[in-house]
Amino acid sequence: MAKKIVSDLKVKGKRVLIRVDFNVPMKDGAITDDTRIRAALPTIEYVLKNGGKAIVFSHLGRIKEEADLAKNDLRPVAKRLEELLHQPVQFVNATRGAELESAASHLKEGEVLMFQNTRYEDLDGKKESKNDPELGKYWASLGDVFVNDAFGTAHRAAASNVGIAANVSETAAGFLLEKEIRYIGGAVDHPNRPYVAILGGAKVSDKIGVIEALCEKADKILIGGAMMFTFLKAQGKNIGTSKCEDDKLDLANELLAKAGKKLVLPVDAVCTKEFADVCGVVKSVDEFAADDMGLDIGPKTLELFKKELAGAKTVVWNGPMGVFEMKNFAAGTIGVCELLAQLKDANTIIGGGDSAAAAESLGYADKFSHISTGGGASLEYLEGKELPGITCVDEK
Ligand code: 3PG
Repeated sequence: MAKKIVSDLKVKGKRVLIRVDFNVPMKDGAITDDTRIRAALPTIEYVLKNGGKAIVFSHLGRIKEEADLAKNDLRPVAKRLEELLHQPVQFVNATRGAELESAASHLKEGEVLMFQNTRYEDLDGKKESKNDPELGKYWASLGDVFVNDAFGTAHRAAASNVGIAANVSETAAGFLLEKEIRYIGGAVDHPNRPYVAILGGAKVSDKIGVIEALCEKADKILIGGAMMFTFLKAQGKNIGTSKCEDDKLDLANELLAKAGKKLVLPVDAVCTKEFADVCGVVKSVDEFAADDMGLDIGPKTLELFKKELAGAKTVVWNGPMGVFEMKNFAAGTIGVCELLAQLKDANTIIGGGDSAAAAESLGYADKFSHISTGGGASLEYLEGKELPGITCVDEK
């Protein structure tokens, strides 16, 4: 059954609680990437255009002690939202209390209110993160209907998603959450085949669940990134000084056995003698010297990946192929961006986190069917796990 979406709700004159994931990267109080804010705009704008009163809220960072509060103040985010919406956003510097209640009840049609970081409530007994029932009920009391558009947080059962949903008459998905369900959920439940997964990043241990699930579901799993060296070492190859999880070699062997021919490992890599952005040397994975450090996949691997991707109809990619932040080791990640951009009639889905950042910083953001805004959430969704933030949305 399909989930209810925001356009299924009657929002006119209603106070619409909108949970977004504005957990954006910040440096010295300034936002360094506003993708997640932009991604939520269609939902907020829809509510405003249709006469709703938008009450927008999010977490930011993790709050463990008093000192974390100032670092994770949502005010700069509210300012950015104001700029992107081209209209005022009233900000309440509290997560509960008389000021917030009064602002919510006096909100007019087409106006936006944002309140402080939901995780400020974590300072006192992790109320937000542990889904304190009283808190979800309280936030629900501020609005009439609930729209969850926070895919990035959908793998967490918090007061600001499932807690509110349990206490309102209607819960719908925002347009962003709906798109994530359509693309990632579509790949998990009924992928068009051939279905190819590309996995990179540093650690096998971060991707165990996903690799296991993909062994069942995908037709091929292409491996790149530093985690390739854990697999290569497990196969008995000399990987020099390349990054490796030595305590995961048995696990890598189990995954290799389980995946069989589905799992495709690199045949060459770009090596240096030190971790620095210097010109590297391409070496076959059978020719590493004791002091070689592999920092990217090589050109023959890209050729191999090109063959494996030919004719693919669904491709899911999570994790960069090399240290793409260094220009000498970006070619593998750029090459995969190019291979995916050239595929015809394929659904190309980039998992969030580093691979999304890579695709965006390398200028390929508009070349894919979907770039997920979730890091942990997109991995857990790909694993086939149930996400509480999706489950709590009403069926149509
Ligand atoms: C994310 O950035 O992955 C989400 O916003 C969730 O954040 P968290 O890992 O701190 O719960």
